[in-house]
Amino acid sequence: MDINEVMRLVRETRRFVENRDMAGHIKVKGLADYVTQVDTNIQNFLQEKLYERYPEVEFLGEEDGLHAMKGDTFWILDPIDGTTNLVHDYQHSTVSLGLYSRGEILMGIIYDPFREEIFYAEKGKGSFVNGRPIHVAEAGSLSETIIAIGTAPYQKELAPRNFAAFQRVFEKCEDIRRTGSAAMDLAYTAAGRIGGYFEARLQPWDFAAGMLILTEAGGRITRYDGAEVNPVEPGGIVATNGKLHEELRQLL
Ligand code: IPD
Ligand code: CA
Ligand code: CA
Repeated sequence: MDINEVMRLVRETRRFVENRDMAGHIKVKGLADYVTQVDTNIQNFLQEKLYERYPEVEFLGEEDGLHAMKGDTFWILDPIDGTTNLVHDYQHSTVSLGLYSRGEILMGIIYDPFREEIFYAEKGKGSFVNGRPIHVAEAGSLSETIIAIGTAPYQKELAPRNFAAFQRVFEKCEDIRRTGSAAMDLAYTAAGRIGGYFEARLQPWDFAAGMLILTEAGGRITRYDGAEVNPVEPGGIVATNGKLHEELRQLL
C-alpha cells in the first residue's frame, strides 16, 4: 500500500471542505451533534476511491456508526473531525484516516485543509508533517507546556467531572486549549506544539490515525487508567509526549 497515493486521495477532500454551501446542509444526530453534506460527501468519496484501489480492505466510517467488521483489516475514517467548527466556519477541522489490521494501526493520516498540513505515519517509520519529520515536545512537566482538553460535547452529563479535571490541569500547566478536533489535538501533540491532550469519551475514528502518528513521534497514549488503547474501542484518551504522561494522568 502506497501512503503517498492514499494521501493524494485524502488531499482531494479539500474541495468539499471549502464548499460553504454543503457545510450549511445539516442534519442533527443528537444534542449539538451534526452531520453536514461535507461529512457525507467526503466519506462517500474516500470509501469509493479506496475501494477502487484496495478492494481487499474493508471500510469503517463514522457516518455508518460503529459496527462489527467481517475481516481483520479495515480503514477507519472520520470524514470531518470538528463538524461543529465546520458548521460555524471556525476553520479547525481535519480529515482523519487510519488503517487498522489485527489489533493495531499500521498507517495514520490527519489532513488539515485550512492550513494545508498533512500529518502522517506508517508503523515503524516515524511521523511527518508535509514531508518533515516531527517529534513530541521536550517538556518534562506540565508547568513547561500547554495542554489541549476535549469537552466530550456529546456526553454533557460528564461535564462536572470533566471541568473539575480541567481546573486541576489548568492550575499545573501553562495554559489549556480547546481546538474542537480530537485528531488535530493528537497531531499537535505528536508535532510538539502542545505537551498533551485528554478527553473522557472518544470514538475509534477520532483517535485511530492520531494514536499511530503520536507514538511514531515518540509520544504515549493510554486510557485514563493507564491501560493500553484498543483502537476499535470507544473510551477516554490521554495522549502526551510521554515524559508528563503520569503527571497528567494522576490529575484526571
Ligand atoms: C468531535 C471532535 C471534538 C471532540 C468530540 C468529537 P466530530 O468529533 O473531535 O473535538 O471533543 O469528542 O466527537 O463529532 O466533530 O467528528
Ligand atoms: Ca470526530
Ligand atoms: Ca466526524
